[in-house]
Amino acid sequence: MDPRLQRRVQRYGWDKAAAHYETYWRRQLEPVQSQLLRQTSAQRGESVLDVACGTGLVTFPVAEQVGSTGSVLGVDLSEGMIAGARTIAEKRGIANARFERMDAELLALEDATFDAALCALGLMYVPDPRRALAEMHRVVKPGGRVVASVWGRRVNCGWAEIFSIVDARVSSEVCPMFFQLGNGTALQDEFAAVGFTHITTERISAQLRYATADDACGAAFDGGPVALAASRFDDIVRAQVREEYLASIDAYRDGTGFAIPGEFVLVSGHRA
Ligand SMILES: C[S@@+](CC[C@H](N)C(=O)[O-])C[C@H]1O[C@@H](n2cnc3c(N)ncnc32)[C@H](O)[C@@H]1O
Repeated sequence: MDPRLQRRVQRYGWDKAAAHYETYWRRQLEPVQSQLLRQTSAQRGESVLDVACGTGLVTFPVAEQVGSTGSVLGVDLSEGMIAGARTIAEKRGIANARFERMDAELLALEDATFDAALCALGLMYVPDPRRALAEMHRVVKPGGRVVASVWGRRVNCGWAEIFSIVDARVSSEVCPMFFQLGNGTALQDEFAAVGFTHITTERISAQLRYATADDACGAAFDGGPVALAASRFDDIVRAQVREEYLASIDAYRDGTGFAIPGEFVLVSGHRA
């Protein structure tokens, strides 16, 4: 796929998803986000970069950890996400978190600037994840740490049929490599290829709980990576894809809601 097209699909797709993202994903992603924060272990006074920061689900906890003597910069390709994060920062009066629109593969930042960099569930969407990791490696100080999470193996992600269901109607071309980084040692290998040392890997299983079918469909179609394609559906197609998606997650019904399995991979490394 043409990387420029992928970036455009990502940028404008996440612009559409931005207003819905936290409603459908904040609680569900909490276990993997907390583990990423523990791995990053941001300390008071540190300077931290959050790549593909979205609405700041991870940026704001880091801002709290580094305190008023530290700072965090969140960067994301989507203007909508950046605007959302800035609004939250303003509302909560958080002065040590800044947000800038930036491509993970081309960080407009000086070398060796940050004590740590992290990327929560962003690398699957980047055309060249190794280049994004190399950029994170470049901007952390020698000895600095980088932590990244991605979705795990397709077979362990119960919501995965969403891509083929949507692609059958609209060529969504979201991210051709989506589950690639979650296979085996793929992400760890990328860290090694970039030159990180002290690499650790962890695989995390979780359940994504949705109280109703509407919530499960909202997460799938409105608040996530296929939001751009889904926005083009008319009412008839929307009803069809909803029915197909609900059939694909039927095995995970839990009372009136759903408990959909999800798997994540978390890798950390240090710049030598
Ligand atoms: C699933 S969201 C994750 C947001 C946040 N890190 C979190 O964990 O809640 C994926 C984010 O990746 C961003 N993204 C996609 N491609 C990107 C790129 N090339 N550079 C920077 N951000 C990108 C999207 O705009 C979106 O905000």
